[in-house]
Order: sequence, then structure tokens, then C-alpha cells
Amino acid sequence: MLLHLSMEEKLLSQFEAIADGLANEGIAVIDEFLNSEEVISIVQLEEFKHDLSHFRKAGIGKQEGKQINESIRGDFIEWIDRATALPPIRIYLERLSQLMVFLNQSLFLSLKDYEVHQTIYPVGSFYKRHLDQFKKDDRRKLSVICYLNENWKEEEGGQLRIYFPEGSKDFFPISGRLVCFPSNLLEHEVLPATRERLSITGWMLDVA
Ligand code: OGA
Ligand code: MN
Repeated sequence: MLLHLSMEEKLLSQFEAIADGLANEGIAVIDEFLNSEEVISIVQLEEFKHDLSHFRKAGIGKQEGKQINESIRGDFIEWIDRATALPPIRIYLERLSQLMVFLNQSLFLSLKDYEVHQTIYPVGSFYKRHLDQFKKDDRRKLSVICYLNENWKEEEGGQLRIYFPEGSKDFFPISGRLVCFPSNLLEHEVLPATRERLSITGWMLDVA
């Protein structure tokens, strides 16, 4: 007989795998956090119709220290407002909320909220090696990225390169994959790709 996992069981086993990855490897990489229909319904939204003019060029740092520096990062971002998010995106946001509750319980964290933006890296753009926590602002505890690129091929590049003490490791931005790591610990970079690279990028915060 085929083992048939219900939606809740599948989600729970993914959440457990994320907690295990964070606790044991210092990073979690989970495929099919969004299934391919869920990804397609997000990228088909108006906001993801490759209209870069809707997107703001991403800056570096916060408020007064903020600057746009294309030699460091070339992505375009659009912050997601939870109150007005469209249903396909809301599915993802609700899953993040559940994940946050789960991680608080299983890893004794005190995550209270999250912030997320849609991200487009145009062909050839990159984000140089950096840490996600700002110098004067340590609210960001966990970085959480979900990729939205159907049929990504390794030769297209666009790896997330994570620098561990023992060396770096690359992860391709494949559709539905979730990558999660502590924002204050792991330096990382995004390598250029030969194809537009889409994601929803976010951070779990320890303040509401
Ligand atoms: C970021 C970032 C990684 C990725 O937005 O801070 O590092 O793989 N993104 O998109
Ligand atoms: Mn980053």
C-alpha cells in the first residue's frame, strides 16, 4: 500500500526537518516547501509579471545608512504587506506563521514576527558576500528564502553561496525550495545567473 501523507503530516515533517537542520547543521534546506502549483500561482500574479518598474532597487543598510550600491547588490525588491497580500502569497505567509510557532516551540526561540519581500535578480545581477543582520539592528534572527524558479538548471548559475567555518557550500534557487539560517551567523552571497531569478525573501524577527 502506498504511504499517503496528509497535508498536515507533510507540513509537520517539513517543519521538523527545518528545526533539525537548524539545530544540527546550522542551516535548513527543504525542497517543495511550496509545491509547483503554489509557485506558479505566485509568479503568475501581476507583481511577478517581470515588470521591474514596480520594484524598488534594493538598498543596503537601514534608514539613514541606506544606500544603493550596484557593485554590492543588483536585485529589485517589493515589500509584501500582509494585510493586502493576494491569496497565493497569503498561502506562503500563513505557512511561515505556522513555521514560526513551530520553531519557537521546538528550538525554544522567541520569534514574534516576520518581514518579507518579493525579489527579482535581473540576468547577471548578484549580491556580494554579506550578513543579514544590520550593525545597529539585531531584530533579524532567521533568514528565510523561498525560490520561485521553475526548471532551474545548474548551468544557469544563481547559486546562494553560504560560507561556513569549514568552507562554502552552494544551493541552487530551485522552485519551491526553502532555505533558512541564522541571520547573525552565516555570511552568504548570490552569484550571477543567466536567467532572471525570483524569490520571496524574509526574516523572522524577535520583536513584534
Ligand atoms: C538577501 C539574500 C539570498 C538569495 O536578500 O539578503 O542574501 O538566495 N538573498 O536570494
Ligand atoms: Mn542575505
